Amino acid sequence: MDKREKWLKKKLPEPLSLRVLVSGATSGIGYECALDLASLGAEVYVAVRNKEKAKKAEEDILLLCPEAKLHFCFYDQSKPESIKALSEELKDIHFDSIVLNAGIYYPKKGSVVEDGTSLTFMTNAVGTYLFFSYFYLYHKDSRYVFVNSVANSTPKDGYESYLGQDIHSRNKSYSVSKRAVMNVFGYALLLGADATLTHPGITRSNILREFAPWIKKAGNNFLYLFSHKPWKACLGMVYLASMKGKRGDYVVPRGLFHFSGYPKTIRFPKRKVYKKYDKLIKLLRSRYGI
Ligand SMILES: NC(=O)c1ccc[n+]([C@@H]2O[C@H](COP(=O)([O-])OP(=O)(O)OC[C@H]3O[C@@H](n4cnc5c(N)ncnc54)[C@H](OP(=O)(O)O)[C@@H]3O)[C@@H](O)[C@H]2O)c1
Repeated sequence: MDKREKWLKKKLPEPLSLRVLVSGATSGIGYECALDLASLGAEVYVAVRNKEKAKKAEEDILLLCPEAKLHFCFYDQSKPESIKALSEELKDIHFDSIVLNAGIYYPKKGSVVEDGTSLTFMTNAVGTYLFFSYFYLYHKDSRYVFVNSVANSTPKDGYESYLGQDIHSRNKSYSVSKRAVMNVFGYALLLGADATLTHPGITRSNILREFAPWIKKAGNNFLYLFSHKPWKACLGMVYLASMKGKRGDYVVPRGLFHFSGYPKTIRFPKRKVYKKYDKLIKLLRSRYGI
């Protein structure tokens, strides 16, 4: 038995009779999370945007776990109408848990959506807010698993300047978008949702996809050697999506600076987050009407 199986057997010994939705599971930690949940017996809905990648992910999971119960559905998290359509398509299906994992880090310079918002902020922050808000309309009892990052930072002049324009560096847009996810988590808790939060530390995935090939190769080699593997990085998500832990839990890797290691629950840094969440939610509500 390898380390992954050992951990799963110890922490999640019973077969899972759950139905789970995982977004962005064509690669990286989303893929690993879907694989674990399926191998533990859960029925897994995978929400992705690319049909070819979906087919490959399905084949790979079925190869490792022939009994996997998988369903693929399609949407684009950078498009509000697409998130809304997905939520309507799935509104009559009961999900025990919903993992809001899809996200991007460093798209091509100048990648923006129609209204000028950076693709990063739109996908990670606005997309996560809308995904939660549209799904919460129909799925009040589900467990929500939000995915943030060790790289999260306060927007110095508020969130306004991240909407409708693209004036910040790609790193800044990413770290602020991930702070926004923490704010959406805080908001979800205040609404009464069974919301939880986790981050994977640092791991090798497809997240460096838009870097120059040599940087991507060097970066991935570095991550391969010095960070933990995606199978370990996804365990916080797997744990929470399996209905372990409780509402409000924040689960992170246990190692130094929470960069790597098996998951553990820590105190959520409320002070950092609640200050800004109110403004973010008001902004997004007035812009998207939900
Ligand atoms: N890797 C790390 O070290 C790290 C650290 C901290 C936080 N995270 C967070 O972990 C999550 C997963 O990232 P990862 O590292 O596993 O990266 P990844 O391998 O690039 O996976 C990201 C997933 O999100 C999907 N996605 C991206 N844009 C989308 C959109 N507009 N609509 C629908 N799906 C979309 C991707 O789909 P496609 O395959 O179609 O592009 C892919 O399935 C992200 O939220 C990321 O911020 C990762």
